[in-house]
Amino acid sequence: MAPSRIDVPEPTSTPNPLKSHQSTKQETHYGDFRDDFFKNGYTVIKGVLSKERAREYQSEALTWLESFNIGFDRNDRSTWKKENLPQSFKGGMYLHFAAAHEKYMWDVRTEPGVIEPFAKLWGTDELVVSFDTVNITLPQSIVGEYDSKPWPHCDQAPERKGLACVQGIVNLSESGPNDGGLVVMKGSAALFDKFFEENPVTGPMPWRTAKHKDFHPFSDKDLDWYREHGCELIKVCAEPGDLILWDSREMHWAQFGDSDLIRTIVYATYTPAAWMTEEDRAAKKELFENYETTTHWPHTNLYTHGKATIKVDGEEVPDPLERDEPLTKPVKTERLLQLAGVVPY
Ligand SMILES: [Fe+2]
Repeated sequence: MAPSRIDVPEPTSTPNPLKSHQSTKQETHYGDFRDDFFKNGYTVIKGVLSKERAREYQSEALTWLESFNIGFDRNDRSTWKKENLPQSFKGGMYLHFAAAHEKYMWDVRTEPGVIEPFAKLWGTDELVVSFDTVNITLPQSIVGEYDSKPWPHCDQAPERKGLACVQGIVNLSESGPNDGGLVVMKGSAALFDKFFEENPVTGPMPWRTAKHKDFHPFSDKDLDWYREHGCELIKVCAEPGDLILWDSREMHWAQFGDSDLIRTIVYATYTPAAWMTEEDRAAKKELFENYETTTHWPHTNLYTHGKATIKVDGEEVPDPLERDEPLTKPVKTERLLQLAGVVPY
């Protein structure tokens, strides 16, 4: 995900019916997962898929990983090596190869149990979904070290005010205390505005030249600031079939596990389709038609990760494993096309 210098407008606030959640004060009591979500900035919703269904999806993800035919075999641990896998980001996020548009990925995204909590949160089932990717991380204990240094960040630019994006992980493998998984600074989302008021971003920052500006990296002293304001770091635990939701203003990163499990998750984020401009709709349609993989933002910030390249004799050349289309194409139902932003509601 090399940053590219392109001229994009500064992020602005998104029209948002849940404006009250800009503040740290919770003004509504819901009696469901939303209470935890607004208080802590994240929540785990149990069993949006059955465990069996989650295992089936995990199996499809592993079948996809084997389909590159470069040596990886899920049933033979001696083949669990980096050189037997296609390139990925941070040990397991597949940003290329039309990964986001495999049929099984769309099957996960169109699961009613996955969509329902987002519909409840936003007060509408007229949603658009991100063309986000799968994360299949093989254990470091077997394949060796990854770049596993924590990278605390939030996925919302300081300039974008209020609740604007809620990220989702559809968990397809166990994520216990010793397994890989999401780490959050519990309660940090509600302190987003206060943090940036007291710690304004000044001067050039690497992320300001990145394609997508809804990102901010935090330093160790920023972690201390949040701790001093009552937040704590939590490794989010979940079982196969659970949905993890977190506010994009929440500080978070992915932690590698010590166990020998293959961490398998699908990132899926939904926002109201009404928030998308006509310009963004046209961009999203084009990305969909080209089977591109993007970030977790569904309605704005629509940038492809581009085609995979490798270095040969110091020169960037196309990765021979790159694909122009998914191995198994999704069935383009009306619901799928609505969620993709291709067909309006
Ligand atoms: Fe993130």
